[in-house]
Amino acid sequence: MRSVIDIMDLSVEEIDGLLSTAEDIIANPKKYAKVCEGKKLATLFFEPSTRTRLSFEAAMYELGGNVIGFSDANSSSSSKGESVADTARVISCYADIIAMRHPKEGAPFVASLNASIPVINAGDGGHNHPTQTLADLLTIKREKGRFDNLTVGLCGDLKFGRTVHSLINALSRYSGIKFVMISPDELRIPDYVKQNVLIPNGIEFSEEKSLEEAMPKLDILYMTRVQKERFFNEADYIRLKDTYILTPEKLENAKEDLCILHPLPRVNEISVAVDNDKRACYFKQVLNGKYMRMALILKLLEVEI
Ligand code: NCD
Repeated sequence: MRSVIDIMDLSVEEIDGLLSTAEDIIANPKKYAKVCEGKKLATLFFEPSTRTRLSFEAAMYELGGNVIGFSDANSSSSSKGESVADTARVISCYADIIAMRHPKEGAPFVASLNASIPVINAGDGGHNHPTQTLADLLTIKREKGRFDNLTVGLCGDLKFGRTVHSLINALSRYSGIKFVMISPDELRIPDYVKQNVLIPNGIEFSEEKSLEEAMPKLDILYMTRVQKERFFNEADYIRLKDTYILTPEKLENAKEDLCILHPLPRVNEISVAVDNDKRACYFKQVLNGKYMRMALILKLLEVEI
């Protein structure tokens, strides 16, 4: 029984396998329509979500399985004081696999230690978000055709943005990756990501403030929302939230084949005027997320096709 709490729980070969399965699902959806018949996914969302929860649910339904769960901590027994460990034990009696989102870093890991079924981390606090990274990787593969020799701009809230942390981990295993990290001082990438991932792997990276200056060198631009819910003080959020707004003018010096990603939800950081640019890939990324979650569910449930 396997859980996926961190993107590094999956080897590069396993990620390649998931990408191949997702591409096969895209090409032959009928082949997969009933493969999870009789299986149940429990979505335990202690924190708001639209995409991730509905994407997991759609993924399970498209595999022929069923879904149970909750989308609001107040409607679960955690509001009565139940521990994550107990919730995980209880849900193991009802379902075959869990997707859990929690505001506390490490909660899905605790769940995985206590569950007798696989647990997928669907986002834990400002820490990790491995299935968003799977969506990002499939999008990069389909748009750029490779994971090596890419200059990747990460822009916005690099401190609290869990999707960025997981993506850095995942891409650090390929060769010739360079990161350009664009953020205000207050929202720079945490030191632990530099010390544990970037420096030991000898990854080239720079920390910059100007999106316009970084733009010409980028193959990928990963925009992020300033994570309002992780701020202690609203005044700081208001001061920082509109630091970077991607507009068509700012793309004038960008490469013709730039790939613009965003995990969504978008607030102001990408102007809607960019949506029609052929380089805007963030809605394709949403769809790719569903296929990768299908592939991951199949792998963890050890479904033979
Ligand atoms: C992200 C998340 O929850 O971390 N959203 C998502 O899962 N697609 C990004 C965000 O909320 O800004």
